[in-house]
Amino acid sequence: MIELYDIHKSFNGLEVLNSLTLAIQSGETMLILGRSGCGKSVLLKIILRLIAQDTGRIIIDGENTTDYSEDQMLHVRKKIGMLFQGAALFDSMTVAQNLAYPLIEHTECPFSEISTRVDEILHFVEMDGTQFKLPSELSGGMKKRVALARAMIMKPKYIFYDEPTTGLDPITANTINDLIIRTQEEYNVTSIIVTHDLASAFRVGNRFSFIHEGKILCTGTKNEIINNELKPIQNFLRDALWKTI
Ligand SMILES: Nc1ncnc2c1ncn2[C@@H]1O[C@H](COP(=O)(O)OP(=O)(O)OP(=O)(O)O)[C@@H](O)[C@H]1O
Ligand SMILES: [Mg+2]
Repeated sequence: MIELYDIHKSFNGLEVLNSLTLAIQSGETMLILGRSGCGKSVLLKIILRLIAQDTGRIIIDGENTTDYSEDQMLHVRKKIGMLFQGAALFDSMTVAQNLAYPLIEHTECPFSEISTRVDEILHFVEMDGTQFKLPSELSGGMKKRVALARAMIMKPKYIFYDEPTTGLDPITANTINDLIIRTQEEYNVTSIIVTHDLASAFRVGNRFSFIHEGKILCTGTKNEIINNELKPIQNFLRDALWKTI
């Protein structure tokens, strides 16, 4: 379980998160919704401590990581796979090198096991045979698949997806959604997905939180979000619907 209490974060006087409180239960897929610039990516980075919050408490599996140093965060980060907005693969490395990198950096895995794990995870994301390709040779959807494979290679307990389908055509987006669902089912991971792609969100999520003015305005099921009468939520839903028509 991941618990966030009263998180505040400003950048140069611009308040992004303002007393954000949220709990992500083990086993669920939490969808974070909100307009561009509302702080969704910042929130994920704060949980990973890639960005430090100004104030507020973070508890991961009962462990208070609020003031953890880089060293103390290492074992916590191993539990979390992250698919960054825009895939963020290493351009000069092959697909296999991109996937092997976390294992080489963080484990004592022998070469034969690394190679087997790379092949297995590539098979899972339906990218067999691409080991020696460079990211520049892959389509946008294929890059997302490799990024998901890299996020999963350490067999994390949690996986964070930042805009996994944004910028993809609807058919490719759906293949990524199917893969996200399969990842949840086969690896039993707890997921946080950040997106403004509402169609994808409703397909893959089981609980939804809406960020507005730095706070969680509403958390609930798909129906609870759709039926929430607060104006920022209704306006967001209407705009999102308009964009997907
Ligand atoms: N490292 C940083 N330094 C300064 N400002 C930042 C930094 N990271 C984010 N911000 C600012 O914080 C705000 C929230 O950014 P964030 O990337 O979390 O938005 P988002 O909700 O993910 O938006 P999008 O949906 O467009 O990805 C923005 O105004 C952004 O400019
Ligand atoms: Mg973002």
